[in-house]
Amino acid sequence: MEKTLIVVACLFGFALAQFGQSGAFSRSQNQPKQQFQAAPKSSSGCNELNERYPVPGSCDSYVECINGTAEEKLCPDGLRFNPNVNFNVYPCQYPNEVACLERSALQPAQPTEQCPNQFGYFKLGDQRNCSYFRTCVNGVGYDFSCPDGLAWSANTYRCEWPDEVEDCDAEAFLGFRCPEIPQSRELGPPAGYRFYRSDNDCQKYFLCIEQRPRVLFCGSDSAFDELTSTCVSADEVAACPAELRETAARARAEEKQRLAKEIEFNAKTLNKKRLG
Ligand SMILES: *[C@@H]1O[C@H](CO)[C@@H](O)[C@H](O)[C@H]1NC(C)=O
Ligand SMILES: *[C@@H]1O[C@H](CO)[C@@H](O)[C@H](O)[C@H]1NC(C)=O
Repeated sequence: MEKTLIVVACLFGFALAQFGQSGAFSRSQNQPKQQFQAAPKSSSGCNELNERYPVPGSCDSYVECINGTAEEKLCPDGLRFNPNVNFNVYPCQYPNEVACLERSALQPAQPTEQCPNQFGYFKLGDQRNCSYFRTCVNGVGYDFSCPDGLAWSANTYRCEWPDEVEDCDAEAFLGFRCPEIPQSRELGPPAGYRFYRSDNDCQKYFLCIEQRPRVLFCGSDSAFDELTSTCVSADEVAACPAELRETAARARAEEKQRLAKEIEFNAKTLNKKRLG
């Protein structure tokens, strides 16, 4: 009895394997060319009522099924189809978010006087002038610049440290060259980061990482102290202009007064509570 069962099971398994093969065979006969990677099995071109999948080889056209009806669509010029987003998310995105890989074909660009594509972010300036970029919306350009000291990266579509942006000359852009640090044979290369106050702005300082500069800023009324490598009240930094030092000294005096009053007030309320 047991033996029969095993034989039947084996036969069944064999039949399944055969069926699977012939099934694949007959499908490729019935549907002459499998056009799509996510092969639609129904004649409507949709596997599911609501779905999207790329047109093979193309990075910006796709098939969209809504309620089982397929329609071929094209992303706006400059955007790309992302097959990995949820159905209720707009699937056309900026190139930094979509790896086209083998889907290399794109519609011809529709440049305007201001923009290379209808949509996108584009770097302006050059290697020495790294912070400007233009965003294009329907072929109309709007210019922006990164916050002070940062450079626009065409790879990440963000403002980054200039030493991390490929086509930015951080030294030229920031106007600062990190001083060479003498290396000793015995001790090896110098460890850690080095800080340098800017020569013409006591609130500005440079951080050198492997001889590449980044610029940083102390907050209002504070300035960079080279001895401690920290931002301190500007009245303590001799390199600051008199006006800033006076403002900082005044702010400090006011803060002292405020604190004294607060302490006095707290002491009073504490006494009241004790007495009451
Ligand atoms: C989807 O198709 C079904 C069947 O044809 C129909 O009854 C339904 O109203 C459709 N829904 C939408 C949102 O179009
Ligand atoms: C830097 O580039 C911007 C944008 O193209 C331009 O407006 C600005 O004049 C440039 N600055 C310098 C110093 O070249």
